[in-house]
Amino acid sequence: MSVNVIIGTVMSMSRKVLLTEEETPKYWYNILPDLPKPLPPPIDPSTREPVDPRKLEAIFPRILIQQELSQERWIPIPEEVREAYTIWRPTPLYRAVRLEKALKTPAKIYYKYEGVSPPGSHKPNTAVAQAYYNMKEGIQVLATETGAGQWGSALAFATNLFGMKARIYMVKVSYEQKPYRKIMMEAWGAEVLASPSNRTKIGQSILKNDPSNPGSLGIAISEAIEDALTHEGVKYSLGSVLNHVLLHQTVQGLEAKKQLEVIDEYPDIVAGCVGGGSSFSGLFWPFYYDVVSGKAPKKIKFVATEPTACPTMTKGIYTYDFGDIAKLTPLLPMYTLGSDFIPPPIHAGGLRYHGDAPTLCLLLKEGFIEPRAYDQVSVFEAATLFAKTEGIIPAPEPSHTIRYVIDEALKAKETGEEKTILFNLCGHGYFDLKAYQEFFEGNLKPFDYPEDKIKESIQNLIKEYPWIQEIPFVKS
Ligand SMILES: Cc1ncc(COP(=O)(O)O)c(C=O)c1O
Repeated sequence: MSVNVIIGTVMSMSRKVLLTEEETPKYWYNILPDLPKPLPPPIDPSTREPVDPRKLEAIFPRILIQQELSQERWIPIPEEVREAYTIWRPTPLYRAVRLEKALKTPAKIYYKYEGVSPPGSHKPNTAVAQAYYNMKEGIQVLATETGAGQWGSALAFATNLFGMKARIYMVKVSYEQKPYRKIMMEAWGAEVLASPSNRTKIGQSILKNDPSNPGSLGIAISEAIEDALTHEGVKYSLGSVLNHVLLHQTVQGLEAKKQLEVIDEYPDIVAGCVGGGSSFSGLFWPFYYDVVSGKAPKKIKFVATEPTACPTMTKGIYTYDFGDIAKLTPLLPMYTLGSDFIPPPIHAGGLRYHGDAPTLCLLLKEGFIEPRAYDQVSVFEAATLFAKTEGIIPAPEPSHTIRYVIDEALKAKETGEEKTILFNLCGHGYFDLKAYQEFFEGNLKPFDYPEDKIKESIQNLIKEYPWIQEIPFVKS
């Protein structure tokens, strides 16, 4: 077959499936009404009761708080947000034809490619929505954290679209390793600070005790929240974990479903990587909806991947914990490594957050999701094979999923099964070449985060907040 791009017609071996701009989704899918159990609420440590939503107004606009708690299944996407989405959406769905051939697998591998967005990942799907709602409430500046720089770039891009500014606390080790991400954010008008910084009280106190502290997402979140709490016209914006963030990401799964429908396919496996859970949830929620509404034509396996250096889903403890190191956030019900987690500096990939989205953790606990952890050497081996076969150099984060997909495709070769696998290639790796260089030079080492350290962190949390164990769902 000579034509290898398809729009709305069925071909035997399509390389990519594209949708028209009009087919950009008009609604986001909200999973809250379809969870197997009600989501345990965030807890206010000062009252030990569920958070009063009015308190959240100090850092978030009202509409996002409503979305955070909403039980509406379908939430309309504002026209201005859809218009901004069309800068890069709908994103292509690719069939990994060359990777399949290299593996000699009967499995069919599809990937939803989010690297086509201007900042290079799925993150602007929510950044654009969050910037829009804040702009509507008269906010001029959004403060946020960024680890690898993908989220900061997305918020810098999105605030600029709506005439606002972003102030970005970038984990110091990434700030030093990724100067071009910083410049990218500045090109969109953002102010970028290495975290811990001298700009906030929490940053100052960390630097006083440890001037060479490499930073962590937990510290950067504390700094950004403190910034929003102490300045007029500034609010805080989070790139993952919270319900409203995952909700905005469902454009990925909704489009992917439509694209697979065009070629008469349906996945046996939907896989994605998890740092906080937004890219994976954005892809799998619409398929989960098919399962719970009885519309799925077959059984689907949902697989979430993570690093062995930050094994939140595979080794973390399910409890209430804070989202940041300074304990400024409410307590969230999640699998956690402890909010004082500092990622090992030898770790090159992203996905370095100590907790995960409460919705994802509930689904994991209830057995709807299978977690898998991979070490960074095997991840970069998979990333390199993908780059050599498919051309795109993947970001380290989705490369964890590529490792899983390759292993699964090789298993299918053994068994002869014709499995259909869908995953999201949620970002490109063109700003991650330092990590690739480390890999090529043999400097990356496998690293398993020790279980003792997780237990110690959680014991410290319980020592300081013994009543956490009395919160009903922790007891049950
Ligand atoms: C490309 C990419 N994928 C995944 C992640 C992990 O975040 P999440 O689990 O919320 O998708 C990040 C985080 O910065 C990222 O940049």
